[in-house]
Amino acid sequence: MDRICITGGQQLNGTIAISGAKNAALPLMIASLLTDETLTLDNVPRLADVALLKRILGNHGVDCLVKGKRAGQNGVAGETIELSANEIVDTTAPYDLVSRMRASFWVIGPLLARMGATRVSLPGGCAIGTRPVDFFIDALKDLGAEIDIDAGYVVARAPRGLTGGRITFPHISVGATHVAMMAATLARGETVIENAAREPEIVDLATCLTRMGAEITGAGTPTIRIQGVDRLHGARHAVMPDRIETGTYAFATAMTGGDVFLEGAQVDTIEAPLTVLRGIGADVETTNSGVRVRRNGAGLAPVDVETAPFPGFPTDLQAQLMALVSRADGTSHLRETIFENRFMHVQELARLGADIHLDGQVATVRGVDRLKGAEVMATDLRASVSLVIAGLAAEGETVVNRVYHLDRGFEQLEAKLGGCGAEIERLTG
Ligand code: EPZ
Repeated sequence: MDRICITGGQQLNGTIAISGAKNAALPLMIASLLTDETLTLDNVPRLADVALLKRILGNHGVDCLVKGKRAGQNGVAGETIELSANEIVDTTAPYDLVSRMRASFWVIGPLLARMGATRVSLPGGCAIGTRPVDFFIDALKDLGAEIDIDAGYVVARAPRGLTGGRITFPHISVGATHVAMMAATLARGETVIENAAREPEIVDLATCLTRMGAEITGAGTPTIRIQGVDRLHGARHAVMPDRIETGTYAFATAMTGGDVFLEGAQVDTIEAPLTVLRGIGADVETTNSGVRVRRNGAGLAPVDVETAPFPGFPTDLQAQLMALVSRADGTSHLRETIFENRFMHVQELARLGADIHLDGQVATVRGVDRLKGAEVMATDLRASVSLVIAGLAAEGETVVNRVYHLDRGFEQLEAKLGGCGAEIERLTG
């Protein structure tokens, strides 16, 4: 298994190109199931999760054609993929594929809407929580679907097609909002989704679906209205920049000191983390082409932060923030409100010398003067990059094991950080 070896103490200076967002690319790729024409996606990040989803979609009969590099295209630009689901030959999403990536469960919406029947494995839990799918099932029932659970599979039927309805989510769910919106595009009549997730990735999907002929208003607000149409057609859409990658490298720069321009970052999707970063003491300058983060050697101030659905502070940056404030001049309190077990990184950060106390959903982080390199274990995607951030500032060598977690969501991490002066390398085998 690959490992990443970091020798801490180097400042980060230079430019990092922000890749397309994993959490936008996945639902956008799944939307290709809604039409028999070709959906072309630009700026798709080269990630393990994207590769796995290509396999899963291929199992349903979707052709995924990756376009080659074009003259003038720079090396970091994302892939252009043509997805063509002109015939769906299999409406079952099997356990051995769905269990590897929760988002693959989301194929249930488009498959049901287009084919009238589907059988999708329950995704199962993961390191950060049980992650049930009850909101998805209730939403599809609100659209007229008949749902059974049979031998670990969700069996959904809508032989006469879906009918628009009112969906009110009891709690905000990004995935359930994606799925309800996709299914509703082909339902007869109007669908109203209340308490919808407002994440930028929801807006990105709605923009793409609209280009495909869907009639959607209100994406990005708590209430989304969809007028069903008979069919959707092909379109072309560019994946939005990754706001979690942006925040990750912004925190890394504050951690090491230095001056980094995050090229292509979409500022309006990252305001809460940048506000926190300013409060900690970094200089943050936003332009229409990206975000510049500098820390001039001054100390890091502690902060109290609670994760929340967008536009609040994202749970996907909680681990990265914890690494940063582990070196603050004082005590910080981080409350995780989205997932019940998203503190797997705490024990690993403690191995590097961080002083963190957990009490239920609140982590109390007492800043320490120094972190010391050690061997640590990645447990989930965002936890693993928090260990990299800590390693960048730790004295000596840090080895992060199980970096396949990193490869799920961070494209060319070593090259991006190494290009700004970090001493970081991947040890294969
Ligand atoms: C999406 O996951 C993201 N994944 C997650 O990012 C992100 O942490 C999460 O949204 C919250 O922002 C992708 O976009 C691929 P939820 P999702 O449904 O949709 C509970 C990463 O690191 N819930 O918004 O699965 C659920 O258990 C990943 O890139 C139910 O109870 O998250 C959680 O506690 C990690 N029943 C809360 O809602 C349901 O039916 C929010 O989950 C659905 C969700």
